[in-house]
Amino acid sequence: MNIRPRRLRGSQILRKMVRETRVDKSSLIYPIFVKEGENIKEEIPTMPGQYRYSLDTFPKALEELLDAGVDKVMFFGIPDDKDEVGSQAYAQDGIVQRALERARAEIGSDMYLITDVCMCEYTSHGHCGVLRGHDVENDGTLKLLAKTALSHVQAGADMVAPSDMMDGRVRAIRTLLDETGHKETPIMSYAVKYASAFYGPFRDAAGSAPSFGDRKSYQMDFHNRREAIKEAFLDVEEGADIIMVKPAMSYLDIVREVKERVQLPVAAYSVSGEYAMVKAAARLGYIEEDRIICEMAAGAYRAGTDIYLTYFAKEIARFIEEGRIG
Ligand code: PBG
Repeated sequence: MNIRPRRLRGSQILRKMVRETRVDKSSLIYPIFVKEGENIKEEIPTMPGQYRYSLDTFPKALEELLDAGVDKVMFFGIPDDKDEVGSQAYAQDGIVQRALERARAEIGSDMYLITDVCMCEYTSHGHCGVLRGHDVENDGTLKLLAKTALSHVQAGADMVAPSDMMDGRVRAIRTLLDETGHKETPIMSYAVKYASAFYGPFRDAAGSAPSFGDRKSYQMDFHNRREAIKEAFLDVEEGADIIMVKPAMSYLDIVREVKERVQLPVAAYSVSGEYAMVKAAARLGYIEEDRIICEMAAGAYRAGTDIYLTYFAKEIARFIEEGRIG
């Protein structure tokens, strides 16, 4: 027997040398929820260990992230007032806009600030765009999404990330940002976003579940793979700078495929349902939480992701420090 794969598995030092996937803190993005009010840090029931913060409490959370070595966040806003056209999404004094200003004032430029651009947290009906009858009207929504993105950039966002799945939104956002002097602001597009039950806990967290119907007329059918490439290519053409695939865990084949076909950085979003499943199973003692987190993360990177959005960002940063992953 001249070929013995076990030769390279004999010790930790050797295993690490021949490791094929490296995980780096600089590629982690932590999603954070901000809401109106004061002195609030309330745990999200379906996402133990994750919180909704008010404007006076979230800067401390950012500082803890920085201390752990995570220097990128994605903001989600939970407004008090919702209406038919989601006007708090693009209001100058909207919750995300004020959070951005506050983060800049208190944290400076150490933290890279990304915003989710969508309407579902802001519309009274919970859909990701404006309605005509019971349909989400694509082209009428584009203007509002672009306006939302611009208001985020004006308030201090470093990067915007549209997650609505309307056709043409990357171009609409790129065009408005360019016209207003923000040519250098990158767009990370949720290009390949499936209609997924894995978003369940997020919709509890943000109060953004649709009040009727579902999101299947705009988010993708989870049976489809070719369509993922079509969506990714479209967003490349429209001027996206980073292509995201979401969710992560059940879609790693798509991450791999997008990575091989698209010449842009790829991001994978390990969503709320993935987080909740790990937490729930760990609480019951059915799995070892830490090891599962490491495997899920390494799986996403092995599939080809360059960037990883995860509610476990702080834990992963610690595990990297401890040499348990990386
Ligand atoms: C907004 C948005 C959602 C998520 C990210 N952006 C919810 C949805 O599409 O229903 C989900 C994130 C998560 O589940 O962690 N459209």
